[in-house]
Amino acid sequence: METEDDLTGVEAQRLSPKPETEAIGGRKLKPATLMMGHGYDPMLSEGSLKPPVFLTSTFAFPNAAAGQRHFEGVTGKRPGGAEGLVYSRFNGPNQEILEDRLGIWEGAEDALAFSSGMSAIATLFLALVKPGDTIVHSGPLYAATETLIGRVLGKFGVKWLDFPAGATREEIDAVMKEAATGNVALIYLESPANPTNALVDVEAVAASRDAVFADAAEKPPIAIDNTFLGPLWSQPLRHGADLVVYSLTKYAGGHSDLVAGGVLGSKERINVIRAMRNTIGTICDPNTAWMLLRSLETLELRMSRAGENAAKVCSYLRDHAKVERVGYLGFLADGEDRQADIYRRHCTGGGSTFSLYLKGGEAEAFRFLDALKIAKLAVSLGGTETLASHPAGMTHLSVADERKQALGITDNLVRISIGVEDADDLIADMEQALAAI
Ligand SMILES: Cc1ncc(COP(=O)(O)O)c(C=O)c1O
Repeated sequence: METEDDLTGVEAQRLSPKPETEAIGGRKLKPATLMMGHGYDPMLSEGSLKPPVFLTSTFAFPNAAAGQRHFEGVTGKRPGGAEGLVYSRFNGPNQEILEDRLGIWEGAEDALAFSSGMSAIATLFLALVKPGDTIVHSGPLYAATETLIGRVLGKFGVKWLDFPAGATREEIDAVMKEAATGNVALIYLESPANPTNALVDVEAVAASRDAVFADAAEKPPIAIDNTFLGPLWSQPLRHGADLVVYSLTKYAGGHSDLVAGGVLGSKERINVIRAMRNTIGTICDPNTAWMLLRSLETLELRMSRAGENAAKVCSYLRDHAKVERVGYLGFLADGEDRQADIYRRHCTGGGSTFSLYLKGGEAEAFRFLDALKIAKLAVSLGGTETLASHPAGMTHLSVADERKQALGITDNLVRISIGVEDADDLIADMEQALAAI
């Protein structure tokens, strides 16, 4: 008689995909819940609870007709796009699951994963902009993005016009109208601006775009770099942006052990960027995608904890005798000015990266940085560990003095990204480092 242990004679059943649960009793499941399984059915991978890393450069077609049908989709000969996977420069199982899960956080229809934040931005620009076009952008932008627009796209005849990140509707209108004398292909924002922390009024930018281009056949899309506050504390698709860009190296990766990027938006807009990514191969690799899937499971936990820690550390620093000023977005919550108004409309938290202006100059900043025992001296942000850096001497060293002054990048400025350590331990570290100045 057959026992449970003796199954040698039993033919294995073919496993079929299980339908996904995205709602229970009319309750739509939250992103934090969906991160554990969305887009992946263990039964298609031998029951493996977690997705395997699919290391393959190409995918087998079941028959020749299916192969032809696939390429008809890829090349646009047949509407509806490609079905299934064909070649790893285009996509792979790990990246597809990652893209499904990334989109969930902002309610985006579709998403794309990239090999870095910069390759995401470069692919977006290449897909949307041609020689002679103008990019309207908020300023300042992440330095490499400014380089990409000014020095790289500029070389190919792309023009640009910018408005300051904190600009009013009137100021945005003025720049938009000036740009509209040419062909505006893209409006590109970054909020908060690094390192000024100025927030962009995305609703005002969208209203300005809609008014200035009311009669245009096609309005230029608004893309925004949401690396600093997304996806937990800011979701710009809800405020009028069409595309959201991420350096997933930061909070999404979250452990300072990978480099990746993402773009989110409607299927229609994402497909245009996908075609460029397929051509140039800026997709992330399967292993990085797998690591990101693991990180996304704890994204809300990590960001919540880092945000709470930052609020506590900043409250402590604000009243310290050796501190001139703390540039922390969370302090805007009770403010009266325009930035506070934008904060209340656009943000649900102050993030975990802030500017600390010490009393004194470079010597004081360096003494503080060198005395830190828990916080590591490194650029980047959004990792589990607290990082501190000196923008004037590090990330912005090559920026001209007048521009540094205009951006508030002074010698006494220290940038801090708070991690998920114990908040009181971090405060103790700041306290002893301030004492050492
Ligand atoms: C706001 C912002 N955008 C884009 C990037 C570029 O991302 P990556 O380093 O992943 O290419 C960074 C990197 O620091 C960033 O801070």
